[in-house]
Amino acid sequence: MAEKHSQKTAWIIGASSGIGRALALKLASGGHRIAVSARSAQQLQELAAESANMAGEIIAVPLDATSFEQFQHAAKQVEKILGSVDTVLHNAAIYKPMPLKAFNAPEANRIFSLNIESVTNGLDICLNALTTKPRQIIITTSPSGYRGMPGGGAYGASKAALMNLAEGLHAELKSQSIAMRIINPGFVETPLTSQNRFHMPFLMPVDKAAGRIEKYFWNGPFEIYFPKRLILPLKIMRILPTALLLRLSKKLTPPN
Ligand SMILES: NC(=O)c1ccc[n+]([C@@H]2O[C@H](COP(=O)([O-])OP(=O)(O)OC[C@H]3O[C@@H](n4cnc5c(N)ncnc54)[C@H](OP(=O)(O)O)[C@@H]3O)[C@@H](O)[C@H]2O)c1
Repeated sequence: MAEKHSQKTAWIIGASSGIGRALALKLASGGHRIAVSARSAQQLQELAAESANMAGEIIAVPLDATSFEQFQHAAKQVEKILGSVDTVLHNAAIYKPMPLKAFNAPEANRIFSLNIESVTNGLDICLNALTTKPRQIIITTSPSGYRGMPGGGAYGASKAALMNLAEGLHAELKSQSIAMRIINPGFVETPLTSQNRFHMPFLMPVDKAAGRIEKYFWNGPFEIYFPKRLILPLKIMRILPTALLLRLSKKLTPPN
């Protein structure tokens, strides 16, 4: 049983499946109290039930993160249950593979809208609706947002926007003693990546990925990223001159 004084609280938005779910279980096993949100109330209840014999606790608070009103209402519930929230993780997202032949506005707009709005709604609520501001706000972004890549479509672009947002807010939030951080996982086995039909290098089991995040979740650098053997080459691509990147992209583009 974790010592009472080391018990922390977190709110994970986007925790009914995949990385958010696995991370909630790890954190609750470590003795912490975790509120979990997503649209699938049933899956959240099942997740909460899994924590019954754990040192910590998982509490289900369903919401649709695109609804500001639902988010606001959920924040009140979370505060009532947890008291103050140490860490808020904005983890909700949707993805659709989008090669050029599949590019279409309704799908692209749906991805942009969910991936961006879930975070902008959440940030507003963290800063203006919670009675006590969180000590840290984390956003799960994606290395697909480092640079525009063939097939990245709206998903990569939405994640690029979120990284830009996080970098831009970092200094101002720091002056208010709030740490702004991001998580950039490589390929992780989740419902999201199960849609991919291409080879995903260094694909990682979700439990292992959650373990990597858990290690630096309560305290750590601005960016948690893994696995290094995938992300470090991508970071080099991030600083390549655009002309060179575009030449490389041409080589990576599948034939029509
Ligand atoms: N898997 C990877 O390889 C990978 C790599 C880099 C980054 N990421 C990022 O990691 C995060 C988690 O992804 P995952 O791979 O674990 O995928 P996932 O299993 O599909 O999880 C996505 C979560 O977002 C929630 N969500 C979607 N729409 C929502 C809405 N309107 N309101 C509230 N919650 C909503 C989903 O729950 P409901 O459907 O129940 O609402 C689910 O809990 C995402 O931000 C993703 O972009 C994943």
